[in-house]
Amino acid sequence: MLYKLRPEDIPSLNCYQDEMKRLFQGMGKPDFGIDFGTANTRIVTSGGGILFDEPSLCCFMGQADRGELVAAGSAVRSMLDRTSGAMMVARPLKRGVLSDIAAARDYLAYAVQSSVGQRRLRSFRAIIGVPADATNAERSALLTAANDAGLGSVQLLAEPLVAALGADLPIELPQGTMIVECGAGTTEAAILSLGGICATASLRGGGDALDGAISDHLHFRHKFLIGASTAEKAKRELVEMFHDGVDASVSIRIKGRNLANGLPGAISIPVSDLHPVVEKHVAGIAAMVLNLLSQIPPELSRDIHDGGIVLTGGSAEIGLVGRAIVDVTGLSVTVADNHAHCVARGLQRALAH
Ligand SMILES: Nc1ncnc2c1ncn2[C@@H]1O[C@H](COP(=O)(O)OP(=O)(O)OP(=O)(O)O)[C@@H](O)[C@H]1O
Ligand SMILES: [Mg+2]
Repeated sequence: MLYKLRPEDIPSLNCYQDEMKRLFQGMGKPDFGIDFGTANTRIVTSGGGILFDEPSLCCFMGQADRGELVAAGSAVRSMLDRTSGAMMVARPLKRGVLSDIAAARDYLAYAVQSSVGQRRLRSFRAIIGVPADATNAERSALLTAANDAGLGSVQLLAEPLVAALGADLPIELPQGTMIVECGAGTTEAAILSLGGICATASLRGGGDALDGAISDHLHFRHKFLIGASTAEKAKRELVEMFHDGVDASVSIRIKGRNLANGLPGAISIPVSDLHPVVEKHVAGIAAMVLNLLSQIPPELSRDIHDGGIVLTGGSAEIGLVGRAIVDVTGLSVTVADNHAHCVARGLQRALAH
């Protein structure tokens, strides 16, 4: 007997719309999507745009798991490294995954309530983006935090897929597309086709790791201590300065504590001194992309040769990332429009299905 294969019999032909329907079965249509990032959290609804966009930060009086939440989100940005007494700033996520369940619970409750008001959260259903390679323990910790925050039900979606959806890539076609989502805590590369992820690779490090590398360089090479916010500010300035190449005569002025005399001070560093730090960071990302490309079937290679690579996420702003990928792969690299909001926009699209 001739058995006629139907598209629905072939799992890889189930496009993402079917995947979304399957995910939401039994859950009901989700009310909003949460891009719970290491640096920033965004909450979207299908029709209402971005309802919430604030740093993923909490401030507790006392220990995070026992203390009282005194501030969260934007209000905490200026408190970083400046708290006094029993105050403590906590980040719910590190390297893209949950690291502090109590902070995540309180932060999610704050973020959702800021978006929907003081309504009963149990009636709300949400989808949350997670790194594609998050372990079961990491996923389950996030689900526990969301449940403890009071959310009714939650489904998790792989971030690179959602980012590709938000970047308007034709992921449902039988055609390979490649995305590199450059966040603060993770950098994830994925090759997508037929509504799913064909291959993925990631570094548990993103913009935050570069901030750390800049601080370490100043600490060990120049005996100068800076805080996390200053490191991020210096990185943004450097990225802008490197846009048109490295001008050895230009310096960057950074304020902090001079370890030689223990005094507050400022230091002027030639940008050419910090360029290798950024180069080393972007070389790691380019090597990860190269490694992923070397493992995919040739038809997908062909598609990516034609379509190139799309960068998304806040750290896609670092022009040297794109340039390093071009250098090692020879492929074309483009930065998606509104790259920092691709995951949020993708969640919005997923909600609309
Ligand atoms: N102009 C810029 N220059 C350099 N880096 C930037 C710039 N703007 C944002 N970034 C970096 O982008 C990162 C934040 O991006 P994004 O909001 O996508 O991260 P996230 O979603 O919170 O993190 P993740 O997805 O890894 O958990 C930060 O490291 C930030 O310093
Ligand atoms: Mg992100």
